[in-house]
Amino acid sequence: MFIKSISFENYRNLKTAKIFPSKGINVICGDNAQGKTNIVECLWLFTGGRSFRGSKDNELTTFGTQSSKIKISFNSRERDQTLEILIKNNKRTAILNDVPKSYMSQIVGSFCAVVFSPDHLTLIKNGPDERRSFIDAALCQIKPSYTTHLGRYKRIINERNSLLKDIPKHRELEDTLDIWNERLANEGALIAAERLEYTEKLKESSLKFYKGISDGKEELEIIYKSSFGGKNGMTKEELKSNMLSSLSKRQSDDIYCGFTSIGIHRDDISIKINSREARSFGSQGQQRSAVLSMKLAEAEILANEKGEAPVILLDDVLSELDSSRQNYLLNKLEGLQVFITCCETNIKSESIISIKNGEIISEGK
Ligand SMILES: Nc1ncnc2c1ncn2[C@@H]1O[C@H](COP(=O)(O)OP(=O)(O)O)[C@@H](O)[C@H]1O
Ligand SMILES: [Mg+2]
Repeated sequence: MFIKSISFENYRNLKTAKIFPSKGINVICGDNAQGKTNIVECLWLFTGGRSFRGSKDNELTTFGTQSSKIKISFNSRERDQTLEILIKNNKRTAILNDVPKSYMSQIVGSFCAVVFSPDHLTLIKNGPDERRSFIDAALCQIKPSYTTHLGRYKRIINERNSLLKDIPKHRELEDTLDIWNERLANEGALIAAERLEYTEKLKESSLKFYKGISDGKEELEIIYKSSFGGKNGMTKEELKSNMLSSLSKRQSDDIYCGFTSIGIHRDDISIKINSREARSFGSQGQQRSAVLSMKLAEAEILANEKGEAPVILLDDVLSELDSSRQNYLLNKLEGLQVFITCCETNIKSESIISIKNGEIISEGK
C-alpha cells in the first residue's frame, strides 16, 4: 500500500498544499514546531483512528477556521483509490472512492498504517486500557468485523452494569442476569480468542525486532493476561465456559460493587524486558525500544494478514537511536512506504519533504 498524493486545507498549521511522496522512505524535515508531526498525524487519520496525540477533532482545524479537509490518493491491491476526510463541528466524515461515509468505523481497513511517536510510550507507562486499545486497534485494521463485536460487548456490559446497580433494590431482577451473562460470554469469548491469538504473533514478531534493536542482548516478552483464565489455544466454547463460571463466582461481589469485575474489559497485556515488567523496571530507552518493536511487529502482522504492507509513520524516532540502530530500522523498512520526521536531512531516503512554518518549502530528492 502506498500514498500517491496528499492534500490538506486548514489542517492545524499546515498551509494548503498537495504533496507527492515517493513509494519508499520519505523524510519530513524541519526545525521544531514547524508542522512535521502535524503531517504524520494527518496521515494517521486516514486509517479511521483518532489523533494519536489524544486531540479532539475540533483541535485539528486551523485556529480561527471552522472546518478542514484532507485528502489522499493511494494505491492498494493494485487499485488507485481516494479518501477524503472532512472535519467539521468536532466530527469527522469521509468520502471513500466518491462514496460518502458518515462514520470513521466505515473506513477502517481501507487505508492501513502503523504509527509510532513518543506519545506511544504511554502504551507501557499508562494503565491496561491503553494496551487493550493497542491490540483492539490492530485487530480492527485486520478484521473490520472485530469492531462490531467490540461495540456489542460494550453495549452488553453497560446493560449488565445498570442491572447490577438495580438488583440490591429489586432482588427479583437477579434471575435476569443469566441472559446478560450468556450474551456477554458469547462476545467476550470471540474477542478473547482473537486477542490471545494476536498476542502470540505479537510476542514472536516483537521479540525478533527487539533483539535486532538491542543487539540481541535483551529479551522482550509479551503475555496476554486474561481476567477469567483464558489461554491461547482454548476454543471459543472453552473461553465462554471459563468466562461464565468466573462471572458466576463473582456475581455477589459484582452486585455489591455495581459493576462487572471480570471480562475482556479487565484484561491486560504484560510487557517484560529480561523477565521484569517494563513499566516498573525498564529504562526510558528500553521502553522506547519495546514500543518500537511492538509497532514494527504490528506492521509485520498486518502485512501478513492482509497480504499487503501498511504505510509506516515514524515521528521523532531517529534522533533517539544511534547510527547502527538507525541502520537496522531503515533496513527493516526497505520496500515499504515510510514517513519519518527528523530535524536533519542526512538520512538515506527517496524523498525529502522540507517544512517551515506549516509550508512545504521543498519536496523530492
Ligand atoms: N489547530 C491549529 N491551528 C494552527 N496551528 C496549530 C494548530 N495546532 C497546532 N498548531 C501549531 O502547529 C505547530 C506544531 O506543529 P508540530 O507538527 O507539532 O511541530 P513539529 O515540526 O515540531 O513536529 C505549533 O506551531 C502549533 O502552534
Ligand atoms: Mg513533532
